[in-house]
Amino acid sequence: MSRRTILVAVAWPYASGSRHLGHLAGAYLPADIYARYQRSAGNDVLMVSGSDVHGTPITVRADEEGVTPQEIVDRYHGEFLDHWEKLGFSWDLFTSTGTENHHAVTRDMFMRLYENGYIDKRITSQMFDPSVERFLPDRYVEGTCPHCDYTDARGDQCDNCGRTLDPVDLIDPRSKLTGATPEQRETEHFFLRLSAFAERLREWLESREGWRKHVLNFSLGWLDEGLHDRAITRDIDWGVEIPIDDLGPGKRIYVWFDAVIGYLSASKEWATRQGDPDAWRAWWEDPNAESVYFIGKDNVPFHTIIWPSILMGYGGLNLPTDVPANNFVTFRGSQASASRGVGITIGEALETYEPDALRYAIAAILPESADVDLTEDELGRRINEELVATWGNLVNRVVAMTHRYFGGTVPEPGELDSEDESLLAAIDAALVEAAGHFDAVRLRQALTTAMAAAQEANTYLSSREPWKTAKTDPERTGTTLFVALQAIGAVNSALAPYLPFTSGSVRDMLGVSDTSWGRPQVSPGTALGEAVPLFQKVE
Ligand code: MF3
Ligand code: ZN
Repeated sequence: MSRRTILVAVAWPYASGSRHLGHLAGAYLPADIYARYQRSAGNDVLMVSGSDVHGTPITVRADEEGVTPQEIVDRYHGEFLDHWEKLGFSWDLFTSTGTENHHAVTRDMFMRLYENGYIDKRITSQMFDPSVERFLPDRYVEGTCPHCDYTDARGDQCDNCGRTLDPVDLIDPRSKLTGATPEQRETEHFFLRLSAFAERLREWLESREGWRKHVLNFSLGWLDEGLHDRAITRDIDWGVEIPIDDLGPGKRIYVWFDAVIGYLSASKEWATRQGDPDAWRAWWEDPNAESVYFIGKDNVPFHTIIWPSILMGYGGLNLPTDVPANNFVTFRGSQASASRGVGITIGEALETYEPDALRYAIAAILPESADVDLTEDELGRRINEELVATWGNLVNRVVAMTHRYFGGTVPEPGELDSEDESLLAAIDAALVEAAGHFDAVRLRQALTTAMAAAQEANTYLSSREPWKTAKTDPERTGTTLFVALQAIGAVNSALAPYLPFTSGSVRDMLGVSDTSWGRPQVSPGTALGEAVPLFQKVE
């Protein structure tokens, strides 16, 4: 099989507050698991993302704290970098939309779309707070959602029904700055002519294969409602400057127009840092290259409608191959929200759980096909009853017995009988099955498959009872431990995308250096490392 070229494009977290386990499960962790698998399978992966530093999420927070937007950005961008490192994330680049490179790439995109006739200028009505003489874009207005009657909808999106909104759509709107009832004032803005792409988008979306149903349905539903041209500039002074300066001061590019461009600008930044400024082209211009976008479901239309439209309007760049958006994680029934203080933050979780244990427990509950409710009991149960009991103990027992009975040297096996062969065949089949799940971004399934393989090895040991045969039949015992060690090597390869730290410890224990996908040879005569416990039980 030939090497594939895969862009792993990961949602850009707003640097406006701490991210929680819902974000971890929604986008960042699945992306890292997928990227690690694809690299181990020998493919050329470029995994990029960064902090989304613009827009009203940042300025509202800065206003609330009475500090500059840049202070907010620096604080949370630093926190993200720290947490990604603790979680073992394998970014090729995690940058930010605050770089000069990103601003330049965004302006270039804007200009090309403008020149191609996909961006034009219009007079529109926007919310205005007369008491402070300011326009109120996006999150500066709150009110009742016109679709679901939720009373705390934000001007850009309703947290309850997930619809994207315009501040002027809200019922009973109120200014976030003063609580006053805003009035509408005319202002001039640039619009992206989304309607020009409706047919091409429909054709493209209807021909997608293997996409998640909820992603396709939501996107086609958007098209069915009729595609409206959208303002892509705002009355705000924090954001990417508009490259044509005839709108006057106090206007910037809308955060959602610039944030999605981050995937491209980060790829370019990575290439430049590599010393090969054209290296990004392999992931964006080669029609055989793939791009997989890891996002939460609230971001779907931006990735299946708006970003593809921008790419079509620009020309020559690949459209998304897949957008495997995840559903939400709820905490005891309510939707996690950093701003409302619901849910466990990534920082809090890292204080309680070891990084691989946290990665395991979150991977086991990824909301791939439906929303998932999360409790700390559930996390603890996954760690103690699955990770420790099924996997940690297996590795520990087999390595410890090899030390006890064979001085820590991988025994030379006798002839394998059918029970030995059938365990190895089952493990090999599990690897094939898991690979299929990884490729289809069924990461929960791939994990279940790997853990079922670990369970097969446990069943094999219970049946072989090497702790009993050790007294009577050293050759049988040696064969059993040899076979179990091969099985552990293979299961470790399947679990490595989930467990980057402890899979390294297992390789060290087995004397294996190969990190590629498959069943590595644990050779007879190899001196095993000490049997160190891989995980602590929680509570
Ligand atoms: N910052 C936004 C969010 O967290 C959007 C991230 S995705 C990208 O919801 F398209 F901007 F990259
Ligand atoms: Zn709503």
